[in-house]
Amino acid sequence: MAIDLPMALFSDPEWQMIEEGFNLVREHEVESIFALANGYLGTRASLEEGSRLSQPDTFAAGIYINEPAAELGPSLARLPDCAHLEIAIADELLSLETGKVLEHRRILDLRQGLLWREWRQQDSMGRISQVRFLRLASLADRHVIIQSVVIKAENYSERVELFAPFGNADARSEQKAPLVSSAYDPAMVTVRAGKTSIAIAKGWVPQPPSNRGSAGEDRLSDHTKERWSWEVGPGEAVRLDRVAAVYTSRDAEDPTNAARLHLAEILDRGVSALVRAHVDAWRVHWSIADIQILGDDEAQRALRFAAYHLMAAANPADEHVSIGARGLTGRAYGGHIFWDTEIYMLPFYLLTDPPTARTLLMYRYHTLDAARRKAKAHGYEGALYAWESADTGEETTPRTTVAPDGRIVSILTSEQEHHVSADVAYAVWQYWLVTGDEDFMVDAGGDILIETARFWASRAQMDADGCAHIRGVIGPDEYHEAVDDNAYTNMMARWNLNRAADAVSLLKHERPADWEQQSKRLALAADEPAAWRRVAAALVTGFHPDSGLFEQFQGYFELEPVDVVSHRNCAMPIDLCLGPERTRLSKAIKQADVITLSALLWDEWPDAVHQANFDYYEPQAAHGSSLSPALHALVAARLGRVEHALDYFRQGAEIDLANNMGNAAGGVHMAALGGLWQAAVFGVAGLRIREDGIALDPHLLPGWTEMSCSVRWRGRILRLVIGVDTVEVGIETQDSGELKIAIVDGPFCFGHPGRRYIVEREGLAWGAWKEADG
Ligand code: BGC
Repeated sequence: MAIDLPMALFSDPEWQMIEEGFNLVREHEVESIFALANGYLGTRASLEEGSRLSQPDTFAAGIYINEPAAELGPSLARLPDCAHLEIAIADELLSLETGKVLEHRRILDLRQGLLWREWRQQDSMGRISQVRFLRLASLADRHVIIQSVVIKAENYSERVELFAPFGNADARSEQKAPLVSSAYDPAMVTVRAGKTSIAIAKGWVPQPPSNRGSAGEDRLSDHTKERWSWEVGPGEAVRLDRVAAVYTSRDAEDPTNAARLHLAEILDRGVSALVRAHVDAWRVHWSIADIQILGDDEAQRALRFAAYHLMAAANPADEHVSIGARGLTGRAYGGHIFWDTEIYMLPFYLLTDPPTARTLLMYRYHTLDAARRKAKAHGYEGALYAWESADTGEETTPRTTVAPDGRIVSILTSEQEHHVSADVAYAVWQYWLVTGDEDFMVDAGGDILIETARFWASRAQMDADGCAHIRGVIGPDEYHEAVDDNAYTNMMARWNLNRAADAVSLLKHERPADWEQQSKRLALAADEPAAWRRVAAALVTGFHPDSGLFEQFQGYFELEPVDVVSHRNCAMPIDLCLGPERTRLSKAIKQADVITLSALLWDEWPDAVHQANFDYYEPQAAHGSSLSPALHALVAARLGRVEHALDYFRQGAEIDLANNMGNAAGGVHMAALGGLWQAAVFGVAGLRIREDGIALDPHLLPGWTEMSCSVRWRGRILRLVIGVDTVEVGIETQDSGELKIAIVDGPFCFGHPGRRYIVEREGLAWGAWKEADG
């Protein structure tokens, strides 16, 4: 039997990301884009043998280490590289940088979560080798990383050798730790990152040339590396599989023992079975998460790429970690967690995999004490979440940064960007709307809503005229610091205050016994909810009824108008061109701010208000943050500005795929990927979540002839098919009651499990919903 890799690629090119050839300068971004992860471990797609520019980082979720420069705070620890492997033919190392590359291709198989590499190389003696690699971070067993390599001699008889360095010998990291344990063990690497120990048990499964027994095989290990060698003849191939089992003291009392036992168990099952289980796990995830687009291959691939990284980033089994701005794919932002998770990523999990959304919210519950401490330290009540956080929930925002012109500038976000508390509360309420999970509200969600409401009630200043103000904040637009009454912050705070009061009524009525405990635990005074509503009603909104505009913050309308639109094509960001002072005094904004408000609180205002604000603020947006384009796409789609929406959709997609912000090297932009998914589901399909069901307001983008996706709503799986003139909703679960299915402000019907419903456009309006046959 010919020797081959343990799994074939999923052949449909629509599911493949392909990097042809080799371009050293692109290496860091390829490593990010093609990264593998499973929410517990993440590993960049570095070349196995390395290159001058390789950055082969492996991360474990929740394991941070203090950077040598204290003002940077903790960063995700970089673990020993589990994938490094060098190949030598008769002592000559194969390298893309020195030999003659006849063929080289890397493929990320999105469907199966596999990183695939094909390489045909001629060495200085004219020997041609065909090398194929496969790598995965198992989704079926999150402690496991698997790598497989097949080397085939095309035209020579020689010794083929494989070298794998041990432990941390290869961790070319300027990070002080991790330290390799002193004890030498060829099958085990143990390292420490701060107080956490990490154990990596390594197993090898060799497959000698197909026409010989194992006699030709020779394995050596010294204290620095492991070596395998075989004699091969023309047309002969060898294969080596490497399996790593990783445990840490976060998840096992004795990680070394746990890793060793786990490795023994999985080796027993065999590499092929492990790979199959992984591929099956991806198939199950995709059965809900895939969005299908007809008519636009580029958008199709971008959405699959987004869903791939979103699924790869989360681990529903660990309530003490969340997803950093770049997931587990790169070093940027040190793996810190921002509002990106709740506002940009969480909707994806909520509607495709609610237990994962719950886990992410539990991270905020477990870090509530840190948020309480932060509020207290600033003289407020309740809970103020850290702008950036890591494992403990303490504030981890760096205190300073170096501006591109070399100046050291203070970072004020940890002091002033307070909207994150309302963002977390917003996500809690969305979770409740979609799942109806009252247990979560009793155990955790209610606490978050109440503590964040308390924060806002103390944060708002009541003036003599009866108006409440939130002064000295940074809104989503970080170009303007220390502003008063940022509309986004105030509106989200108002919403937070009202929903907390709603949650109290809900829990009181639905779960009286639990509520007694919960209200005691929170020492809630009987008059607090009414006080929250009063503050909410008094909060200044910045809304100008004559124009329908929200003033982004007090005084924004008087700032200097600048031509942001013609600046968008300049290589240098507008804040650098104008300088910080002029930017602050100008209307240029870094990212969607009022427009984010539109996206989140759409039903609070008529469409005309969203339209007016989009028209006013869109030209001011410099899109200096990756978070910006996708939400512009979402709002433009909802407004039916489909051309504009498509432009923004593409811009959002290209943040990683075309590295259009120039910083994909630091990892993929998780918020932008979540935003893209939202642009499709909330923008193009126009999905709205209601307590009694769902409503849709479809706006297919130019060229799209159909979009279909699945979403979960209160125990059901709903299959949505948006055509040019039709909408179809199938209720795929059998065992739940009816739900209301509507076209926004249009016809509705009540849907029953196991049935499909269709509505067609009739001229400019929608006809009546009908039950579909079959
Ligand atoms: C954005 C923030 C975002 C952060 C992490 C910043 O550039 O302005 O809104 O949370 O990046 O993605």
